Amino acid sequence: MKNDTFLRACRREKTSYTPLWMMRQAGRYMSEYRALRAKYSMLELCKTPELAVQVTLQPLRLGFDAAILFADILLPLEPMGSSFEFAKGEGPVIHEPITSLAQIEKLRVIEPEDGLGYIMTSIGMLKKELQIPLIGFAGAPFTLASYLIEGGKSAHFVKTKKMMYEAPDAWNLLMSKLSEVVRRYMRKQVEAGADAMQLFDSWVGQLSAQDYVDYVKPHVAHILQDLQKNTNVPVIHFGTGTHALLEHQREAGGTVLGLDWRTPLAEGWKRVGHDRAVQGNMDPTVLFAPVEIAKKHAARVLDAAEGRAGHIFNLGHGILPETPVDTVKAIVDFVHEESTRQQEQRS
Ligand code: CP3
Repeated sequence: MKNDTFLRACRREKTSYTPLWMMRQAGRYMSEYRALRAKYSMLELCKTPELAVQVTLQPLRLGFDAAILFADILLPLEPMGSSFEFAKGEGPVIHEPITSLAQIEKLRVIEPEDGLGYIMTSIGMLKKELQIPLIGFAGAPFTLASYLIEGGKSAHFVKTKKMMYEAPDAWNLLMSKLSEVVRRYMRKQVEAGADAMQLFDSWVGQLSAQDYVDYVKPHVAHILQDLQKNTNVPVIHFGTGTHALLEHQREAGGTVLGLDWRTPLAEGWKRVGHDRAVQGNMDPTVLFAPVEIAKKHAARVLDAAEGRAGHIFNLGHGILPETPVDTVKAIVDFVHEESTRQQEQRS
């Protein structure tokens, strides 16, 4: 590997500049991606290793310090027994949303090779091409459960929380099945060659701190503690809207804690502790502002990290589809140049 700056930052080792990548760095804001999507469906791209590899590599010309496998958090649901599609303009649509204990009992606790082998094939192929670290990932049980129960995206998560509150046995069975599948799947991606893993708990910020502790944390800990004990790759524990949850997320686990833009980075880092690395946390919509303004926001994030070892620059959530590519490139270059300059000044 030619550039392991990202991995060193995950381990809180000193680096000569702040490494960065962006969540959803492969996707519709890039014309190369849109050209491939005109020919193939999202699921075809994910399930055909040659195509998934090609899409993973597309954004790397912009200068990111890590690649993230092109896939989706929902893919394990299909071999577990819940089929879905990405409908045009609607996002994911689960064909038969979960409404009963009987449906949960039928979900299969699969081994990743049963139905997700293409993911490990893509990882193996990517490892031969890449000179920067490869991030594998999975969805966290709450976020996956919310799609299974709501049937797609949701504003208030009413059905999900209703099951959580009124049918705790069903909820716990569902969360246990999901977390065991995710644990096995993440372990398998590491075995296949992933250099780091990210657990996406994108919607967990919908919960109060107490509900997180009661209904979610043990399941997330099941995954993160296992990875921590039995692999040596860094694991990024990511969520959004997590201002009330950071201390609990820290306890659940993760080498690196993801911070979104709502929590100032300096405050978030202090709360998760300087004995952990952090990733974040520019608002993705800043990339729609004029470049000079976007640079000011990026500088603010760097300043908040105070040059401390263990900061990975990222957005607080995924890059949005209409984001101007030129601004993304300008921010990648700016973060590299500005953080190099600051490190030189400090030493
Ligand atoms: O970061 C990367 O570049 C890797 C690829 C990646 C995708 N999805 C590709 C994708 C990753 C890491 C994900 C994770 C994911 N998927 C999450 C967690 C991260 C987050 O953003 O919170 C979630 C919640 C999903 C579920 C999902 N998949 C949604 C809600 C949607 C539709 C919304 C949208 O952006 O259209 C998807 C589809 C999806 N996943 C696309 C991509 C590039 C768009 C597909 C297309 O081309 O139409």
